[in-house]
Amino acid sequence: MNVLLIGSGGREHAIAWKLAQSKDLDKLYIAPGNAGTTQCGENVDIGVNDIEKLLEFAKQNDIGLVVVGPEDPLSAGIVDKFEEAGIKAFGPSAEAAQLEADKAFSKQLMRSSAISTAEGRVFEHFEDAKTYIASRDEAVVVKAAGLAKGKGVYVCDDPADGILAAEKIMCDKIFGAAGEKVIVEDKLLGEEASILAFVDGRNIYVMESSQDHKPIGDGDTGPNTGGMGAYSPAPVVTDKLMDQITREILVPTVDGMNRSGRAYKGVLYAGLMMTAGGPRVLEYNVRFGDPETQPILVRLKSDLLEVCLAVCDGKLNDITLKWDPRPAVCVVMASGGYPGSYEKGKIITGLDEAGKLKDVVVFHAGTALKDGDIVTSGGRVLGVTALADTIWQAKDKAYEAVDKIQFDGAYCRRDIADKAIKK
Ligand code: AMP
Ligand code: GLY
Repeated sequence: MNVLLIGSGGREHAIAWKLAQSKDLDKLYIAPGNAGTTQCGENVDIGVNDIEKLLEFAKQNDIGLVVVGPEDPLSAGIVDKFEEAGIKAFGPSAEAAQLEADKAFSKQLMRSSAISTAEGRVFEHFEDAKTYIASRDEAVVVKAAGLAKGKGVYVCDDPADGILAAEKIMCDKIFGAAGEKVIVEDKLLGEEASILAFVDGRNIYVMESSQDHKPIGDGDTGPNTGGMGAYSPAPVVTDKLMDQITREILVPTVDGMNRSGRAYKGVLYAGLMMTAGGPRVLEYNVRFGDPETQPILVRLKSDLLEVCLAVCDGKLNDITLKWDPRPAVCVVMASGGYPGSYEKGKIITGLDEAGKLKDVVVFHAGTALKDGDIVTSGGRVLGVTALADTIWQAKDKAYEAVDKIQFDGAYCRRDIADKAIKK
């Protein structure tokens, strides 16, 4: 079967790497892909939001399955478009993707399905949000309701900062239409974890747990990024908690989506805070997480193409997933200056040497080919991922590989997985 994968990040290189190992794959195309995905298939120069062109390409190239990486085309209805044309597509419909694209909708779904989350209120007018925040004397979290590339959340220990955040989102419109509504919610305390599950409309298959590292600096300091590293499994999610998360969060979410007439299909990602009172939902994503996918997929022993097809066909119950019991750690190497402005086009060296280390995979994110060199082309550049018998050995091995790679201004956190090691 020919497969078209949509996206260009580290997540997509990991998906491409895994799909390329499938016994049922004939040809893999990645649109638009990065320098790394060229090792797994053929890059196609079409942007992720150019749905008409992607559809035309799929028709001309006998594509049997489309796998969608990022959220933007999902909420724009890419899956609906392909399915209307009779092509299988892995991911939720536009209506179901509102679970990520509209935090007011997801808050409402959680309320009506009795799913644990932070107490929150939705506002459409700045003055109302301001009055509400001013009436509170504890920390607040202010979120743009729409898609804001992971940047639309302000955790404010002082309500005065909360008002400023609401003003930036609602009056200055720094996220455009994504900020027409804001959610103001209580700040939750605890350790975060990411739980991803395959969902085929009815059945759920929960993947191994993982944990992201959102802030740019060691010790979780500085501004939030797209994610500076991840590991799997996350020891904070014990087997007992995993059962509770499945029963009290994932199953009711899928049921709630069905009741609202938006059957859910694809990967359901629950971003959780493990509070003293139990797991609570911080957000949903309607796709694989980035960088969580990198350590998760190096641990998946089963055929990902088979799983994606089972999801599309509503036959998830027919398959079992096998996992490598060894933990995996992914360290993101970023361009100097990220998440602020940064330069592109820096030549990257040492990739082959790092990739030759046993049980190490160097996933590309913001990379491109230029005159025979691999150069930086984004904020997050690489996701250096290692498997080992213990989490500390996996961390050491990932950093051993990181230290073989150079580019001008390269930056990474040095404490990825320390929380798991301390446990
Ligand atoms: P989100 O995009 O909604 O996951 O939010 C991004 C990040 O903001 C999360 O990973 C948390 O670190 C933080 N966050 C979001 N909501 C809350 C909350 N209610 N309490 C504490 N931190 C939060
Ligand atoms: N790692 C967080 C995300 O994919 O949104």
